[in-house]
Amino acid sequence: MSEALQYQSGFGNEFATEAMPGALPQGMNSPQRPPYGLYAEQLSGTPFTSPRHINRRSWMYRIRPSVMHKPFVERTQGFLRSTPFNEVHSTPNQLRWSPFALPTTPTDFVDGLMTLGGNGDVGTHAGVAIHIYACNKSMQGRYFYDADGELLILPQLGKLRFHTEMGILEVAPGEIVVIPRGNKFRVEVLDPQARGYICENHGPYFRLPDLGPIGANGLANARDFLAPVAAFEDLDGDFRVINKFQGRLWEAEINHSPLNVVAWHGNWTPYKYDLALFNCINSVTFDHPDPSIYTVLTAPSSIPGTGNCDFVIFPPRWMVAENTFRPPWFHRNFMNEFMGLIRGEYDAKAEGFLPGGASLHNCMSGHGPDAATVHSATEADLKPVYLKDTLAFMFETRFVVKVTQHALATAELQHEYYECWQDIPKRFNGKP
Ligand SMILES: [Fe+2]
Repeated sequence: MSEALQYQSGFGNEFATEAMPGALPQGMNSPQRPPYGLYAEQLSGTPFTSPRHINRRSWMYRIRPSVMHKPFVERTQGFLRSTPFNEVHSTPNQLRWSPFALPTTPTDFVDGLMTLGGNGDVGTHAGVAIHIYACNKSMQGRYFYDADGELLILPQLGKLRFHTEMGILEVAPGEIVVIPRGNKFRVEVLDPQARGYICENHGPYFRLPDLGPIGANGLANARDFLAPVAAFEDLDGDFRVINKFQGRLWEAEINHSPLNVVAWHGNWTPYKYDLALFNCINSVTFDHPDPSIYTVLTAPSSIPGTGNCDFVIFPPRWMVAENTFRPPWFHRNFMNEFMGLIRGEYDAKAEGFLPGGASLHNCMSGHGPDAATVHSATEADLKPVYLKDTLAFMFETRFVVKVTQHALATAELQHEYYECWQDIPKRFNGKP
């Protein structure tokens, strides 16, 4: 199926696509009678008056307008949580989790959401929430949208097919998909089990970072981002649309599929990106650059250089720095670091940080290589080395990630995590 899917290339482009010939009005957004008897509807991702270079909106030509549904009622929240994340006091301890459990009963994407933590305030469009999804069943008769933020989704296990208002995207581990605020979708699970990570970004939407002295090319290149082409469902029936609104899940009856957009144009669209296409920039002399050099996407805040959230990856790459401790060194940071592992091993940890697991190092909490890595990296013969089997990522966010009660109670929490640093030897001997 995947080879049949088509995409449109570019980041934030003014895309134009139609699933039926002539369905997209030409020259105007809201004609008196759109083609095929469709209804015109605008979906705004930013205020109308946002500057042109960051303004996002799309015009959709759909079989029925989005307003046609029964009233929303609150539904069960499961393990989904949201701001203010005050169930438990935040801990300064370094936290790490083993790979999160997969469901043993039929579970779809929405029911398989579990929140680890977050920060900010959905009401003022600040901060993030960090969720794990684990599912084994496609969403059937139900559709989801998030009014609280955009969803940056990283599959770690299993392929997923996202059927969205704007069209269909298929993603596998090693790729990401971003669903913008408000875009309705359902998730089809293409493998027996699926698991991955989600950054729900309440702040300004993710965008490509500026490149500064790097120049016009490098890191994630705009043309490698893929938006879907128009595809629609003309389905009548007894369906549900589930909505995350102000931190709670709501559900409404709807008598048709809301994925009924026959044509659309605009720049507010889901997109996907293959992390293997990231062009790494790194030291070819000495020292270990700050991980900001691996930024794929950044969601800014109102403070220059301070991301509401930066999405950073550590992909396969050459390590060539000379006379240098090559793994990430010990550090304590202003920003707060949530990490996950898609595949392989991460070069700062000899063991314990596994694909499907996670770690969290909050503001000013010391962390870095474990004792085994300190030893091996200090003694290593520094020839060029290709880190082949690895793909780690980080959500780096300006506010402390406050964990949920469930995140601290879950069996996957590694209470012994601190021990990985306790055997770092004292080397100081008073001699230069
Ligand atoms: Fe760190």
